[in-house]
Amino acid sequence: MEIVYREEQGLFRLTSGNMEYGIGIVDGQYVGHVYFGKRIEDDGYTYLMRTGEAPYTPSANKRETGAFMDSFPFEYSVWGRGDYRESCLMVKSPEGYRGCELWYEGYRILDGKPRLSGLPATFCKDPEGGDGKTLELYCKDKVLGLRVILRYSIFADSEALLRSVELVNEGDKRVCLEKVLSACLDMDSGHEQVLTLNGSWGRERHMERRDLAYGKQQVSSVRGETSHQEQPFMAVLDQNADQDHGEVYAMHLIYSGNFAAQVEKSQYDSLRMTIGIHPEGFSWMLKPGEHFTAPEAVLVYSDEGLGKMTRTFHDLYRNHLIRSPYLHEKRPVLLNNWEATYFDFNSDKLIAIAREAGKRGIEMLVMDDGWFGCRDSDNSSLGDWFVNEEKLQGTLKELVDRVREEGLLFGIWFEPEMVSPNSLLYRQHPDWAFAVPGRDPVQIRAQYVLDLSRPEVRDYVFEAVANILRSADISYVKWDMNRQLTDVGGLCMGAERQGELFHRYVLGVYELQERLVTEFPGLLLENCSAGGARFDPGMLYYSPQIWCSDDTDAIERLAIQEGTALLYPLSTMGAHVSDCPNHVTGRVTPFTTRGHVAMAGTFGYELDITRISREDQKEIEEQVKQYHQFQPLVREGDYFRIASYSENHLYDCWEVVSKDQRQALVTYVQVLARPNYHSRRIRLKGLREDGWYRLETEDLRMGEYGEGLAQPQNGGVYSGRLLMRGGILVDPMKGDYTSRLFHLVSVDHPGSRGTKGQG
Ligand code: DGJ
Repeated sequence: MEIVYREEQGLFRLTSGNMEYGIGIVDGQYVGHVYFGKRIEDDGYTYLMRTGEAPYTPSANKRETGAFMDSFPFEYSVWGRGDYRESCLMVKSPEGYRGCELWYEGYRILDGKPRLSGLPATFCKDPEGGDGKTLELYCKDKVLGLRVILRYSIFADSEALLRSVELVNEGDKRVCLEKVLSACLDMDSGHEQVLTLNGSWGRERHMERRDLAYGKQQVSSVRGETSHQEQPFMAVLDQNADQDHGEVYAMHLIYSGNFAAQVEKSQYDSLRMTIGIHPEGFSWMLKPGEHFTAPEAVLVYSDEGLGKMTRTFHDLYRNHLIRSPYLHEKRPVLLNNWEATYFDFNSDKLIAIAREAGKRGIEMLVMDDGWFGCRDSDNSSLGDWFVNEEKLQGTLKELVDRVREEGLLFGIWFEPEMVSPNSLLYRQHPDWAFAVPGRDPVQIRAQYVLDLSRPEVRDYVFEAVANILRSADISYVKWDMNRQLTDVGGLCMGAERQGELFHRYVLGVYELQERLVTEFPGLLLENCSAGGARFDPGMLYYSPQIWCSDDTDAIERLAIQEGTALLYPLSTMGAHVSDCPNHVTGRVTPFTTRGHVAMAGTFGYELDITRISREDQKEIEEQVKQYHQFQPLVREGDYFRIASYSENHLYDCWEVVSKDQRQALVTYVQVLARPNYHSRRIRLKGLREDGWYRLETEDLRMGEYGEGLAQPQNGGVYSGRLLMRGGILVDPMKGDYTSRLFHLVSVDHPGSRGTKGQG
């Protein structure tokens, strides 16, 4: 890991592992992007910025500065001075003039990585910052008195590049920031495609890949949260790139509100990728002396396809973003009562569920929505965070103690950011909800959104949650958020600051979660937003896991979890086994398959265990055992995608390999049975080429090597080379939606017994 400045060339080189990022200073003024990709090990590449090509040389040909502006690869593009591609920064002066120009003034190279005030961001593992380095470039708009600090950080153990931007008003007048994106990346184009994650409620983060065309292609959210529909991520990749081959450039934003991620193909066939806070509805008044920090952007380059990109994101987030003490801990197997009871429960019902759950090895009961105020449906009571003791037949502490006596931990649900029109809180403080005077705020799920930009509202919300947590032995909180923002008007905010509210809301959420994990450091926090509408790296800074989707159907989950795992470690993906017919899709799948699919996430149950079949109850015991066996591997290992049902429409397959390559777990789902078809060849990945592995099949119902399992060759022992080049043969199984786990354990040489490796 190194950041160096080559003064003669005016070149900054940032290198880590096999990654190199080059920044050039042109004419002592312009900060240009030179290179991002595989390491070059050569200082002489500033010519790649093409500043010598007529008629674009600014110093030699002032007449054509505009042409220069519109083609130069800028590190951070600005609006109003002739660069008509996407701008990162748009500023309005107090007189109403728009436009900005950045002059390079100097730099600093720091050990470690500065924190971003009020925002989640990656950090060094070493408290002294020995594992990270940061480059700060100082630029200035002299007319506005605006200082722009461009930050670039790298970590010794990662090939990702982290970027953020800080603005400081050093002038004597206030300026209005109308657009502040976090990063831009200019490059030449060939024949690329664009990859994004798109969806809706119940089908979040499906992978979407399409040809890149001239003009702008964007994914975004103006919903106040990252959303079910789109993810703050975009990758530009070779037309032929697959899991293992091809170049990929990816951007991801560590943020949980409105965003825009975009790629633009220009007249000269160059590409500009940008990412940051969505400018729609945004403005920020920066007074003299004030600072504004834009969220951090993650840039990843891979020359080995999507698989390497994925593993770079996973390791970055596990090593440098998730702070929870649970990150490397086995999470308790939980049972959540939402799909079991919805609002219709009391303590006796919950205890009956807990008792049966405990017998089967489940370790925690989570009481979901409906325990507070008069909430027997979603029509009321959000904001009234006092226990409905009539419904719970006593105090919360009494219920928690009873659950603890059954040997289970206790978890609880909140939706702290909201207020129901039908609530005591709203009757007392109607002005605490977002609203535009004269308009009835739009209701979504019969609720309004609290204005978390207001400190007194945040204090109320925090104390309401904290008081409940202080009152009983509670190990886990599910923090839900069930509607998007509308009518974003703050009744206490001046006219010129209304455009700050979307962002201030997100900062308010971050502050609340920071206070929560600070006062309750042992709490396991799971974020959630009507399923997976706020599954983003920002929330991971506070909670080590996020509920993936309200759709727990094992087949729909294949696509959701494939898309989610493209960026996020499996240990972050909230995944549960639920009852069938599935409550969202109505599909009936085998209990085993539901277990196998949920095992690729945090794992738990979402069903009334007292009402399912004896056979399924019994199978829970086996699944819990499997979870304990495989969880360290799933949590810590390297993830490889082998086949995608979304692409082939027949089967799905993924693999997790322990970091020491001593064991691997392959999950294979035969979505559709194919008649008159031979066995399917599955080539594994990530194993030690010269290692030997024993193939252990995990089949709960059929016993070893039952119907549908790979026919073991060579006494069940294979070389790593054979498994990766030749593969294993998986026989067709009878029936749709069937699945199998294959566990590979390294052995010293063929014929010896397996020794289980560490995950
Ligand atoms: C949406 C969540 O995604 C569900 O799991 C559940 O907690 C409901 N909200 C409760 O209202």
